[in-house]
Amino acid sequence: MSQQNFPLDRGAPPVDVIPAPLPADQYSDPLQLQVEMKKIWATGWIFVGPRHHFPTTAGYTPITVAGQPILITYHDEQLKAFYNVCAHRGCQLTETAAYDRNSLSCPYHAWVYGIDGNLRSARDFSGSGSNNVPPSGDKVTALTPVSIDTWLDFVFINLDSQAMPLAEALEPITKRWKHVDFSSLEHVASLEYDFSANWKLIVENFLESYHVPFLHKDLNKYSPATGRYQVQLANNINGIGTQPYEGVSIDNKPLPQWPSEENINYAEYFNASPNFLLGFMPDHLFAWSLEPDGPNRTKEVLHFYFPANSATVPQFEEHRRITLERWKNVNDEDHDIVQKMHHGLASGALKKAQLSPVMERNILRFQNHILDETQGE
Ligand code: FES
Ligand SMILES: [Fe+2]
Repeated sequence: MSQQNFPLDRGAPPVDVIPAPLPADQYSDPLQLQVEMKKIWATGWIFVGPRHHFPTTAGYTPITVAGQPILITYHDEQLKAFYNVCAHRGCQLTETAAYDRNSLSCPYHAWVYGIDGNLRSARDFSGSGSNNVPPSGDKVTALTPVSIDTWLDFVFINLDSQAMPLAEALEPITKRWKHVDFSSLEHVASLEYDFSANWKLIVENFLESYHVPFLHKDLNKYSPATGRYQVQLANNINGIGTQPYEGVSIDNKPLPQWPSEENINYAEYFNASPNFLLGFMPDHLFAWSLEPDGPNRTKEVLHFYFPANSATVPQFEEHRRITLERWKNVNDEDHDIVQKMHHGLASGALKKAQLSPVMERNILRFQNHILDETQGE
């Protein structure tokens, strides 16, 4: 593991502020969000939830990806994804998930689609009382497919048919943590937050530890800011690390760790832009998703996992409860402060934020990534 420690020594020479690359008004501007949706969200792998959120037998689940209506189905023992849009005249097909169903019907003129995406019937299309299907084999008679893939328990969608495979997109992270075996993960809990804030502020808050000693006094005890470092694994993947990271221990009995070649005493957190927030700890992991609802509102869903059959057994119930309580406290504190950030930035008082080139290097990198991807619009 490579790391860069913060030069926290009090004798460190002063550094000058750096004006933030992104103007403050780009955190509440609907046009900016439209550009980000088109250039970043509609071209990247978007984390949409754990595998059990989607059908495991025949059925379908409607979701929103990059602001677009998408349908996830399960057919032929695999997940498939399509635009949730009728091939006839474009009506949104459904807003409701259904299980043990092999087909769905458009609410407008009742065209029926199988969960494989193919049109099955188009009643009255050739005149009242008819029930034939327009010529088969024609793409027009099928739902428009989109890419879907999974890594560990996490389901991702990509609206860009030219996008690199998910495994390649996440490789910088999987390579860095290849010494640990996460295959035994078990989903233990989820949490949801509704932010009155722009999605980028949630990512920026996730990527800096400058605020940890001031906002997260408890976190700072078991995961101190003095042992934190910043890493960039790709243009769209930034992260922070923390060493040491002390997992929950009761009567000197710690939670069992993930199977690994080494005894791990550190944690690392990554944002694979735009919406995947991933955290590896020695004894658990988390995967969080973001979903903007306009420039001023974002839903965040948090999923927590522990090593199955070791950390998930009843004897460690209290360890898990404390671990999850720690994260709830940290996230409650972040939820409050990020909303204050959004409110303050939206006032127009600042044209641009000011960054520490040492403590907020990740924010600089993240904002430059946003600028690089959205420039020219
Ligand atoms: S728009 Fe769906 S059947 Fe007409
Ligand atoms: Fe925080």
